[in-house]
Amino acid sequence: MKYGRIVGWGKSVPSQVLTNFDLAQRVDTSDEWIVTRTGICRRHIAAEGETTATMSVAASRAALTQAGLVPQDLDLIILATTSPDLLLPPASSLVQDMLGARCGAFQLQAGCTGFVYGLAAAQGFISTGLHRNVLVIGAETISRNVDWNDRETCVLFGDGAGAVVVQACDEPTGVLSFVLGSDGSGAQHLHITLGAREMMTPEAIVRGDHLIRMNGREVFKFATRVMGQVAAEAIAQAGMSLSDIDLLIPHQANLRIIELAARHLGLPMDRVFVNIQEYGNTSAASIPIALVEAIEQGRCKDGHNLCLVGFGAGLTWAAAVVRWGVTDRPFAMSWFTPIAKARAQAEVTLRTAKTMASMQALTAQRAFKKRAGKAVEAAKSAASTALLPLYTRVDKRYTRDKRK
Ligand code: ACO
Repeated sequence: MKYGRIVGWGKSVPSQVLTNFDLAQRVDTSDEWIVTRTGICRRHIAAEGETTATMSVAASRAALTQAGLVPQDLDLIILATTSPDLLLPPASSLVQDMLGARCGAFQLQAGCTGFVYGLAAAQGFISTGLHRNVLVIGAETISRNVDWNDRETCVLFGDGAGAVVVQACDEPTGVLSFVLGSDGSGAQHLHITLGAREMMTPEAIVRGDHLIRMNGREVFKFATRVMGQVAAEAIAQAGMSLSDIDLLIPHQANLRIIELAARHLGLPMDRVFVNIQEYGNTSAASIPIALVEAIEQGRCKDGHNLCLVGFGAGLTWAAAVVRWGVTDRPFAMSWFTPIAKARAQAEVTLRTAKTMASMQALTAQRAFKKRAGKAVEAAKSAASTALLPLYTRVDKRYTRDKRK
């Protein structure tokens, strides 16, 4: 059996920051309330033109570079999101095109749990030998669906993207186990009404049916119950016990939920990764962004066992145990990296040259048309000037003959 090892990672977050103090100017809340009840201090909000697809592309490019691969090496792209650029087509295809990849791509919707679902799907494609390199992205522009007048939800969410390249390998590294769960009977606790069930009318927009509605207390109860439980299941399924887990990377929805889940598991907080203070809840992007930051901070070392765990709208939940290890990459990969980077650069140069050439051709074509048009006009005018005496003579002759 093949294992899906993470060989590349990257993140992209908007530069625009919204602090608790900014929010306190807008709704009846305070920095003190938000920090105490959620642990959030700031969140990053997408600017105009920044979307789920654009952030996904930036995160994916970083992940591909890290992996020493070019987009053409990808066999599949899985994009987990609840806030795609358009209802149709899927944002995964926009990302595939923008990257210049030539492979299948699909969008996956499982609320904030989407990235772990995507990782599990990638492992499925890899373990059966169907694919070698799978790009898994979690990305959101969820701020576009936030009701900025609802203090219970608007303080929670932020935007961003995280991506990983999962590659087939023979050693038991990468995704060792996963557990996925869903209970649609809790759908009403976290939802956006607008969809095929309800037409998008002006009245629906005025009612705010395109915005997130949440029963915070119910979601809180569900999350604290399920997080520890599903993490424990995934750990047991990997044939491990809690002491084998070096780092828990939970969905960053609320610091209190994370602390309760860790307590439920019996895991000290120094083995739990938290970055909620900076980004808030970025839904499907939260776990991959946290994973990338944990790697950047040197908290994922070769041979470490990580447990990724999330919950979200659906209601859904999921956990995966991942054995970290990138330095024992096949030798070929290490010398291949500079070649792959050169190939990537060459691809970009070629695409740019093609675009420039077609733009130049278009300009030349336009200039030629303009010159040709002027030449035709000049010829017409020359012809009519040349023909004028002839017409005058003919006309005089005709008048003379008529008088006779
Ligand atoms: N500022 C000030 N007061 C507030 C705010 C705010 N931003 N929001 C709510 N309150 C008030 C409430 O109105 C309430 O007032 P009342 O007692 O007069 O009625 C009081 O604070 C306490 O409200 P609670 O709902 O009990 O507050 P709680 O401590 O539960 O925190 C919160 C609310 C943060 C929403 C919490 O319930 C929570 O985190 N729930 C889970 C949310 C979550 O994780 N959602 C994402 C799911 S993932 C996905 O798929 C998108």
